[in-house]
Amino acid sequence: MKKFLLCLMVLCAVMVSVSWAKDVSDIVVGACIYKYDDTFMTGVRNAMIAEMEKQGGKLQVVNSQNKQTIQTDQVDAYITEEVDALIVNPVDRTASEPLMSKAKEADIPIIFVNREPYADVMNAYDRIWYVGAKAEESGTQSGELIAEYFKAHPEADKNHDGKIQYIMLRGEQGHQDAVLRTDYSIKAMKDAGFEIVELGSDTANWSKVQATDKMTAFISEHGVDNIEAVLANNDDMALGAIEALNAQGYNAGDPARYIPVVGVDATAPALEAMKNGAMLGTVLNDADNQGIASIKIAVVAAAGGEVNEETIGYKITDGKYIWIPYRKVTTENYQQFIK
Ligand code: GAL
Ligand code: CA
Repeated sequence: MKKFLLCLMVLCAVMVSVSWAKDVSDIVVGACIYKYDDTFMTGVRNAMIAEMEKQGGKLQVVNSQNKQTIQTDQVDAYITEEVDALIVNPVDRTASEPLMSKAKEADIPIIFVNREPYADVMNAYDRIWYVGAKAEESGTQSGELIAEYFKAHPEADKNHDGKIQYIMLRGEQGHQDAVLRTDYSIKAMKDAGFEIVELGSDTANWSKVQATDKMTAFISEHGVDNIEAVLANNDDMALGAIEALNAQGYNAGDPARYIPVVGVDATAPALEAMKNGAMLGTVLNDADNQGIASIKIAVVAAAGGEVNEETIGYKITDGKYIWIPYRKVTTENYQQFIK
């Protein structure tokens, strides 16, 4: 019996050392963020930092300054430094193949975040994961927000033609979130039974300043009274549009001068704008859970453990995709999202 117990103990010790070859306090993770002055990605970055502090490992984070060449050098430096795992928020998601190859060659696990590499890149390595959110969902939910508003407020159809005349402000060209949010928000308005007319659609690269400029141009082109709704692929651009509307005396408190504006992300300034009645709604893009999931995967993979639902606490699809759900944020529930 004693012998049996001893054997069992040795077996347990071997199993533990096999699945956790490295202690968390010895783990170093290298992360690259596409650029630091992005509101949503700043939320993800802060969540990563907080989670790593909780876990007790070391996290290095660098700013890729929106340049893929800078980011590639940063990944090279991390590999030379022999980090235990890489977290990359690519500058250009279509250029993630070389980053994957470098990680694979060095046998370092790599987690891509927020900008989804193509499937062939994801399938070319077994220690690769993607943490993000299904952009289709957020597109659908933001389109629904507009549709629900028009159902509850028939007077929002200002020219009484039974159609929604809208402006679309798109994110960065080629970004999966820009393409899918645009398409699915349009689809949701149609699916809700509305006829829609696109007065204008342009990219403002996720940027508030660029969105203010584009919206100002649309207002002078079409006249503010002819615009019935604004859909923006993220909150910064929605807030930029609101600034342009404010300059016309719109969305500043007078109910007769109001145009419903929706965004995506549920950033603090967007929730504030909802509170002030300047913005109709948004969709929670869950920065906290995206940051936490990335760190959890990095730590488990770096420690030599198996990355699965049990070890990271998040559902994994096809062995490598971690999809964090979006949530619709309305005038009724926005308060619960304020931190
Ligand atoms: C999107 C987010 C945008 C921007 C972009 C950066 O998911 O909604 O605000 O942060 O990612 O890749
Ligand atoms: Ca109309």
